[in-house]
Amino acid sequence: MTRLLLLGGSGQLGKAIQVLADASWTVHAPGSDLLNLSQPDDLARFITQHKPNVVVNCAAYTKVDGAESERDVAFQVNGIAPAVMALAARNIGAQFIHVSTDYVFDGTGDIPYQTFAATNPLNAYGASKLSGEIAVARENPEAVVIRTSWIHSGGGVNFVATVVRLLKSGQSMRVVDDQIGVPTRAANLAYAILLLAERRDVAGLLHFTDGGVASWYDVAECVLDTMRISGCVADDVKVSPIESSEYPVAAKRPKVSLLSTHTSRKTIGWTPPHWREGVVASTRELLSQSLREP
Ligand SMILES: NC(=O)c1ccc[n+]([C@@H]2O[C@H](COP(=O)([O-])OP(=O)(O)OC[C@H]3O[C@@H](n4cnc5c(N)ncnc54)[C@H](OP(=O)(O)O)[C@@H]3O)[C@@H](O)[C@H]2O)c1
Repeated sequence: MTRLLLLGGSGQLGKAIQVLADASWTVHAPGSDLLNLSQPDDLARFITQHKPNVVVNCAAYTKVDGAESERDVAFQVNGIAPAVMALAARNIGAQFIHVSTDYVFDGTGDIPYQTFAATNPLNAYGASKLSGEIAVARENPEAVVIRTSWIHSGGGVNFVATVVRLLKSGQSMRVVDDQIGVPTRAANLAYAILLLAERRDVAGLLHFTDGGVASWYDVAECVLDTMRISGCVADDVKVSPIESSEYPVAAKRPKVSLLSTHTSRKTIGWTPPHWREGVVASTRELLSQSLREP
């Protein structure tokens, strides 16, 4: 039995890992009430006492716009805490897997981005996640850091869930079509992480996303199509494309944040499905949950 310590078990990715982990894993997922990542001393002591074989960090300050005004918290949770985990894991000989983001890039230069491409985050969230990447590599050169993008699932806070909620309530949506990335289903990334958690021959930066390329508008359209097939949306509800300049938000986002995943997929040994498959699956899960609601 392999002991896996999971930070961020209540989040989208953390939940997906717990669903997928089979009987060969003992997963321990302390919540933020027990282990607050803004108190790194507790964190190191906890890891040392529990002696897991693998530590997976899915916990993060993930509010991209919120990070602009809560910069200190974002850097504490996304930068300082991962460094403490990485060192504590190294000290007890445990494998450490950490998750990062496509928002470490600025959307210019050679795209799709290779793992070794120059970073230049445009917002505080991206900068805080980059500080975590750098600190993890410094404290634990054997750690695995996986950059991913646009995570969604049939629960939690994510774009697919927002679109389902708004369209179901009868609201039409205007959605930006000039930001390009890859929606990634939490369950697919969870599967990749569990494959990596069984390996000690992999270290350093990896890129993992679902297949294909999309704008936020493409994602919303895919959700709408899925809802139409299920008969869960009024006929007059529409999704229309707009430019980012028409939808002002606090944090600047990269226009194109495509990660090159070819080499990492070979390393992981698995090719995930196209993003449409994942978005349809998350939409259906969200719809079936809302049918069960009183
Ligand atoms: N969501 C995306 O689109 C996206 C894209 C690229 C990369 N990523 C990265 O992927 C990883 C997983 O993302 P996700 O979407 O699964 O995140 P999520 O659903 O927002 O979950 C975040 C998790 O972090 C925990 N957390 C936040 N602050 C904490 C604190 N101070 N102490 C302890 N725990 C804390 C939360 O616990 P509570 O529930 O108790 O607050 C929750 O379990 C993160 O590293 C994120 O940066 C996400």
